[in-house]
Amino acid sequence: MTKAEEIIEREQRFLLPTYHRYPLVVERGKGVFLFDLAGKRYLDFVAGLGVNALGHAHPRVVKVIREQAARAIHLSNLYYNEYQGRLAEKLCQLSSLDRAFFANSGTEAIEGSIKLARLAGHRIGGEAKSQLIALEGSYHGRTFGSMSLTGQDKYRQGFEPLLENVKFVPRNDRSALAAAVSDETCAIVLEPIFGEGGIRECSPEFLAECRALADRHRAALIFDEIQCGLGRTGTIFAFQTFGVVPDIVAIAKPIAAGLPLAAFLARQDFASAIHVGQHGSTFGGGPLACRVALEYLVIVEEENLLENVRRVGSYLEEQLSLLTTRYSVARQARGRGLIQGLELEIPARPIVEQAVAEGVLFNSTQDTVLRFLPPFLIQEKQVDKAIRVLKKLFGRSQTSHVRVSMGSSVSDGQKADARGGTAKAHPALGEKEGRA
Ligand SMILES: Cc1ncc(COP(=O)(O)O)c(C=O)c1O
Repeated sequence: MTKAEEIIEREQRFLLPTYHRYPLVVERGKGVFLFDLAGKRYLDFVAGLGVNALGHAHPRVVKVIREQAARAIHLSNLYYNEYQGRLAEKLCQLSSLDRAFFANSGTEAIEGSIKLARLAGHRIGGEAKSQLIALEGSYHGRTFGSMSLTGQDKYRQGFEPLLENVKFVPRNDRSALAAAVSDETCAIVLEPIFGEGGIRECSPEFLAECRALADRHRAALIFDEIQCGLGRTGTIFAFQTFGVVPDIVAIAKPIAAGLPLAAFLARQDFASAIHVGQHGSTFGGGPLACRVALEYLVIVEEENLLENVRRVGSYLEEQLSLLTTRYSVARQARGRGLIQGLELEIPARPIVEQAVAEGVLFNSTQDTVLRFLPPFLIQEKQVDKAIRVLKKLFGRSQTSHVRVSMGSSVSDGQKADARGGTAKAHPALGEKEGRA
């Protein structure tokens, strides 16, 4: 048995079977690359599901972790530490919000956000003001509150009863939203760009309507920027890209460069609703995680990474769009900056599996969407490499896709239209680059 097989077998024997992993044992990473046990290199377009914005083993992050670990890793929230307040101050300055609370995971940041919205709602309208509005197709995490706000049955089934008083509306449906929000609403919760939900954006008009309705009904507008925030859209907060400021924003993934840290930031009107003892976290806001997070923000600024996200993100967007004009299996490119998706006509997971063998790591979501969340350090030539691999794999799949659809009288273009997608004239299958 090889070492990799031994590692895989041990996990399969002793862990709860909750993950569908790829059969790849990663030993280490450097920059935008990961390496397996045999030393084979993989170009990383997953970045730990959006966490490793600074790539792997960034020298400044490694240095700060070493220094701080030798001083104090954890102290508890019984005492002050130098870095928690400094990080809160920096995040408030960057967001124009007023106060922060630190937790350890995205789902906890959502839980804290809705607890705060409930307190603020009750202060205005008593317990009756408890309703939460969320979006169909959204994803907010795995704990009960977040799961109750997640608009996908597959994550909720089996765990009922969930949180009461949650109403779902379709993304970008302004009239459904207006009909759902009332004086009993305490919060509207949404991801400006759905991540797990397949890289789908809320329109600026829809976000503006959310803002107006939240104001009219004195409800909190909560943005879940756990996946799309902290630089991924090319601005430090995604809401700055869309021009609508929320009352509360939840952030996590890249903030402490891979150490578990999350936060929610709130406007004073809402922050003032909470008092000593009403919320807390043993690990949240420890000196190591907070000091690394401060370093993360400095690195993003000093290395001009937002500029890189915008430049290379546009290039990636262009290249993915080109794929949709050249390969019938590539249906629609979506997203911006370094949060992008490619909707396929075929299941995405086999493409991801074949790409692993080609030395490039992608991720799939919603069965047919390839998701791209590379580190902010990614360069055009690495996008070219990823696109070359996709062309090779699409060429291969397209050939078998043609064979499968041969007996059918419905064309690929008609199939896309029937599902209400963007009507797109596919070039003849087997067209020159289709076989590349
Ligand atoms: C938009 C969004 N919200 C919440 C979460 C939950 O975060 P965590 O897995 O850290 O609890 C995720 C995780 O992928 C996410 O993408």
